[in-house]
Amino acid sequence: MNAPDKLPVSPEPHVMKTYGRLPLALSHGRGCWVWDTEGRKYLDGLGGIAVNTLGHAHPRLVPALQEQLGRLIHSSNYYLVPLQEQLAAKLCELSGLTNVFFCSTGLEANEAALKIARKFGHDKGVDRPEIVVYEAAFHGRSIATLSATGNPKVQAGFGPLVECFVRVPLNDVAAIEEVASTRKNVVAVFLEVIQGEGGVNPATVEYLQAVRRVCDENDWLLMLDEVQCGMGRTGKWFAHQWAGIRPDVMPLAKGLGSGVPVGAVVCGPKAANVLGPGNHGSTFGGNPLAMRAGVETIRIMEEDGLLANAASVGAALKEGLQRELAGVKGVRDIRGQGLMLGIELDRPCGELLGRAAAAGLMLSVTAERVIRLVPPLILSADEAAQIVAILCPLIKALLAEPATS
Ligand SMILES: Cc1ncc(COP(=O)(O)O)c(C=O)c1O
Repeated sequence: MNAPDKLPVSPEPHVMKTYGRLPLALSHGRGCWVWDTEGRKYLDGLGGIAVNTLGHAHPRLVPALQEQLGRLIHSSNYYLVPLQEQLAAKLCELSGLTNVFFCSTGLEANEAALKIARKFGHDKGVDRPEIVVYEAAFHGRSIATLSATGNPKVQAGFGPLVECFVRVPLNDVAAIEEVASTRKNVVAVFLEVIQGEGGVNPATVEYLQAVRRVCDENDWLLMLDEVQCGMGRTGKWFAHQWAGIRPDVMPLAKGLGSGVPVGAVVCGPKAANVLGPGNHGSTFGGNPLAMRAGVETIRIMEEDGLLANAASVGAALKEGLQRELAGVKGVRDIRGQGLMLGIELDRPCGELLGRAAAAGLMLSVTAERVIRLVPPLILSADEAAQIVAILCPLIKALLAEPATS
């Protein structure tokens, strides 16, 4: 924790300015710790935004990937890729679903899901299939996925948006029942089990069960975007498993490859055969390096009991935050599950990103007022306590300042 209060500015004249970045560059990492190019050390409460499942430079992942690099990085989907079948079989075993399409990112997985929903509709004679989506949802930044996203800032400047999305509030059973009784062209419901970018907003168990029922009653596909909340983050392989339900379509990405880009759409019997040869594809999707990353990530998660770790260390982290922030005026809520936690404040808190970095902690702020922690699933109880010890004083200091907006 030797970062100075003010971080140096380093210009990037040739990279497009699509991100508001902190002026620091990471050089290397180990476990839940990363170092920048100036030698400063940070505790990683961000995990590359819920990506680095196994932390950094994992001693069993790295040699496996090195071995794969020396064997075959990419072939082509012109040919069989045995590692695809291996990873697909594992994802089906873990989810109880039946078939997988591979791609490289979350938005691509969601695009595939949206295509499945539309074709599912066309196949049963619905000419303008509609998909139910949610307020505050985030599904990606392609034209279709930003249209499904429920954040006007993400959509601004990119119209006309893709049509035929019907938007409802999260956790409102009456609203989805109303859609079912009034809109005959609906073919699918698409939601994050815990909204990530929207502010760490969990769908309740009761709501998920009700949506499953409404989908069954109306012959709709239930499509659960587990790109951020899936792959063990909440303490089960997939966040919907806490509700004892099964989706028909489940996009995954982020943590699946522990940092190597891997996306997947895992489907159950109702959706698995909707796309046929020529309907969809991806050059990089399912390449041997990506598949090996997925296979090894899951293997190590199983060997090291990382679901149980996410549940117990996540609970300890949440308790620590609740204890230290109890009664602090301006802290509205502390929510989430496992190692996907959000602390909602009564004011915008984007500046905490830089202040936390200066104090040696990586985190994220989402939906303007929500501090989000999505660290590697290998986080130890001691590291969780260190996050609490660094973060809570920063939150208290911010809340003690006069609110600017
Ligand atoms: C729930 C959810 N879906 C989709 C995406 C898009 O993933 P990607 O950035 O890999 O395209 C994200 C990214 O934050 C996400 O959180």
